Amino acid sequence: MQTEKHLTGTLVLSVFTAVLGFFQYGYSLGVINAPQKVIEAHYGRVLGIVLPDRYATNASGEDGTFLQAGTEGTLPPPTDPTTSPHILTMYWSLSVSVFAIGGMVSSFTVGWIGDRLGRVKAMLVVNVLSIAGNLLMGLAKFGPSHILIISGRAVTGLYCGLSSGLVPMYVSEVSPTALRGALGTLHQLAIVTGILFSQVLGLDFLLGNDEMWPLLLGLSGVAALLQFFLLLLCPESPRYLYIKLGKVEEAKKNLKRLRGNCDPMKEIEEMEKEKQEAASEKKVSIRQLFTSSKYRQAVIVALMVQISQQFSGINAIFYYSTNIFERAGVDQPVYATIGVGVVNTVFTVISVLLVEKAGRRSLFLAGLMGMLVSAVAMTVGLVLLSQFAWMSYVSMVAIFLFVIFFEVGPGPIPWFIVAELFSQGPRPAAIAVASFCNWACNFIVGMCFQYIADLCGPYVFAIFAGLLLIFFLFAYFKVPETKGKSFEEIAAVFRRKKLSAKAMTELQDLRRSEEA
Ligand code: GLC
Repeated sequence: MQTEKHLTGTLVLSVFTAVLGFFQYGYSLGVINAPQKVIEAHYGRVLGIVLPDRYATNASGEDGTFLQAGTEGTLPPPTDPTTSPHILTMYWSLSVSVFAIGGMVSSFTVGWIGDRLGRVKAMLVVNVLSIAGNLLMGLAKFGPSHILIISGRAVTGLYCGLSSGLVPMYVSEVSPTALRGALGTLHQLAIVTGILFSQVLGLDFLLGNDEMWPLLLGLSGVAALLQFFLLLLCPESPRYLYIKLGKVEEAKKNLKRLRGNCDPMKEIEEMEKEKQEAASEKKVSIRQLFTSSKYRQAVIVALMVQISQQFSGINAIFYYSTNIFERAGVDQPVYATIGVGVVNTVFTVISVLLVEKAGRRSLFLAGLMGMLVSAVAMTVGLVLLSQFAWMSYVSMVAIFLFVIFFEVGPGPIPWFIVAELFSQGPRPAAIAVASFCNWACNFIVGMCFQYIADLCGPYVFAIFAGLLLIFFLFAYFKVPETKGKSFEEIAAVFRRKKLSAKAMTELQDLRRSEEA
């Protein structure tokens, strides 16, 4: 079912305002890399830790390897474990990873808050968390900086976890079917723009220096404030009003605001169908989502696309690109990393244009295959580096291609496809579970990559290549095309899949009993 592709001012405003939440997510994800060295040095001063000389001269400061055992020689033996440089590693790792923990925790409450307050009010209320978190970080120099930054990151993590569920929920509900994919891709565009902003602002002559880093960390509070005020102008989701609250007139009024002169009746009819579906389904809890066979296919697909996105290794690339560029002899590896950020953004834009033409399934598959080939090329480049110096350029090109293919499909699609795979009844629970899964995998990759890289050396990307092959095969057999289909039609695809699976089992049973 196709509806008109009508972009009204209100629709643009609503989507723009909502995805400001994802901009903050991207900003917080990327902001902690560039100023690592200066902030750690500040932690050192606050905690009274004497830093080794080379600590001050380390140029990259991107991946923290200079504090990792076995990667940079031995640190001076700690005299007192509470004031040794090792404690810095602990505080720094916590400053980085507590963000994903915050996200994991809060993503579970998305369905509850979204249904209870409505999408717009929920986004308004959770914004307070972002403003508070950014204030804590922005004021870090006025107190015990490590505590203020860790708590600030945790609170912004809580905000981002909620936002990563509420925003796709709202955007998919206010978008006309024909634009749902393109508007959904904007989540990813907002994330990558956030990452790029933080990378550029993090340059030492801008905000990534000893004076300005608190401002750098707290700056996404500005986006939170902007979002807060703009949300006051955004209409509540007509789908939520109609289906959840039964407010038909208000839903029609908001739909008119969002669609302009289009006849709202077609969409109201579709909502009515979905409402009847939802009424027959009743409200679905997270537990029911897992226990009811009705949702099994869709839940597996929803989780696997998140796992594919994170275990593709993309965030490992964002961590280690500087290291690899350094080995490739690039003078200013930090600019090459910004190059990755730019390519990342450009190809997300291309994906926005492609997604309604090529469809989600084909882009997802093409992206995974491209990443797989790039991961193999990267491994070859890294393994043969000691024999042929030019191999480092192979790795460099492979990194760029890896990021490009990620943005073609596996990057943007998981963020909006979950909302498409489920109808109103199970949607909030499904989005909560999917976001939790995404955050948890993000955390696992962030925590474990260093150890696995130490263990596997140049073969580390071969592991991602293997995983990518599994994800490709899974997507090939299981992920349906959702482009241009109404929520009702998508649910029917899964019902058919389930039915055909059931029919197959019945047929097998019949054959078995005949044979017996
Ligand atoms: C996706 C991922 C995020 C990653 C980003 C890179 O949004 O969810 O973890 O950092 O893409 O562009």
